Amino acid sequence: MERLPLQPAWALLAAFLLASSATGADEAPSKNKQPAPPCTLSGTWVNDLGSRMVISAANAAGVFSGSYLTAVSSANQAIAESALQGAQHDPAQDAQPTFAFTVRWAFSDSATAFVGQCFVDQHGEETLETLWLLRQNVPSRSEDWKATRVGKNVFTRVK
Ligand code: BTN
Repeated sequence: MERLPLQPAWALLAAFLLASSATGADEAPSKNKQPAPPCTLSGTWVNDLGSRMVISAANAAGVFSGSYLTAVSSANQAIAESALQGAQHDPAQDAQPTFAFTVRWAFSDSATAFVGQCFVDQHGEETLETLWLLRQNVPSRSEDWKATRVGKNVFTRVK
């Protein structure tokens, strides 16, 4: 049987280090990651009414989910945290991206759709300018005319 020539220990160590740095095998997964650009919507936001929302990290298509705790309600029920679903344009491509999300209220039979844009000022402060449509449930088509409200909310980042 043919034998491989013996390598000095330092040569083996150097070969191992070179191979592992080439593959990145010895690096923690987050070490090479760039920080998220401003207007990445993940995080906690509060609006001018005092409502609070928490948005999770978006996937590659910009789709995110989260939770919304409204400070106000037109329903005659105790307010509860409600699920939100949305999508945003990529802040790495559009520095001030547009987005949309819906909230399916857990404590009423209404739903709200928000559309907006994230703006970053000269200090790096992010603001979400939104308009919303709140759809209430009405018992008949004849009452459809009064079922939708429209409004504006401005959100700032809490963390
Ligand atoms: C309801 O009243 O049936 C559910 C709560 C609706 C809360 C609305 S959604 C638009 C506006 N912005 C908020 O943060 N809360 C209100």
